Amino acid sequence: IKRLTVPALRQRKQGRATADPVVMLTAYTARQAQLLDPHCDLLLVGDSLGQVIYGLPSSVPVSLDMMIAHGAAVVRGSWHSVVIVDLPFGAYEASPEAAFAAASRVLKETGCAGIKLEGGAVMAPTVEFLVSRGIPVIGHVGLTPQAVNVLGGYNARGRTDAEAAKIVADAKALADAGAFAVVVEGVVEPIAVAVTEAIDSLVIGIGGSVRCDGQVLVTEDMLGMFERVPRFVKRYENLAETISAAAARYAGEVRARTFPGIEQTYQPKG
Ligand code: KIV
Ligand code: NA
Repeated sequence: IKRLTVPALRQRKQGRATADPVVMLTAYTARQAQLLDPHCDLLLVGDSLGQVIYGLPSSVPVSLDMMIAHGAAVVRGSWHSVVIVDLPFGAYEASPEAAFAAASRVLKETGCAGIKLEGGAVMAPTVEFLVSRGIPVIGHVGLTPQAVNVLGGYNARGRTDAEAAKIVADAKALADAGAFAVVVEGVVEPIAVAVTEAIDSLVIGIGGSVRCDGQVLVTEDMLGMFERVPRFVKRYENLAETISAAAARYAGEVRARTFPGIEQTYQPKG
């Protein structure tokens, strides 16, 4: 099977919205990627791995080396989807040159197809710098978790007219700079729709609108691994319960000396 390409995906948007919604999920490990890959167009190695895998309080402490290690695992575990790796906080904001150094390391060391970065118009020159030098970019506007220390939390964005106008302008600037897609996170629905209609790039919603060009969720959220999730998450499974129940059964059998059984035990030949 030939892997999907960024230009092929990008072509899905003809006019105001795509007829064939883009399916995107996060993946951090090879096995997770193997299971998700056949069902997705895009796999995102999100810096949400900071909280989800490493138990960090936010994505701010995530390092470029962490992103590269997980990015390489996800590329190894996938054969169909376009793999995009988040640039972590601190790796790209200072200058387009800094961003290129980080992004080129990510492409060379993981084999992924492109990167995602957070921020609006202020990042447009960086997006142009990367795309014109061979690195596909996804933008990310609205609720941008790396800016949690400025935003003061993870509340929905775009509730005032000024904020709404800024989010649309930010997405336009990123699209004009060459971002092939823009993630719109945690915004009131009319803004997600306005952004989708305003730009030629794909608009991927997370807490956006069903009318976006595609959707993304954090896989562990979607699988029900966490007790508390944002309103925009739909749980398609309850893995927390499944895993706890399995651990409890295992613990019970070890304590009762009923595991390992005869089937799990090696015996001498003859
Ligand atoms: O890090 C992440 O998982 C993300 C998605 C939620 C868009 O950026
Ligand atoms: Na992210």
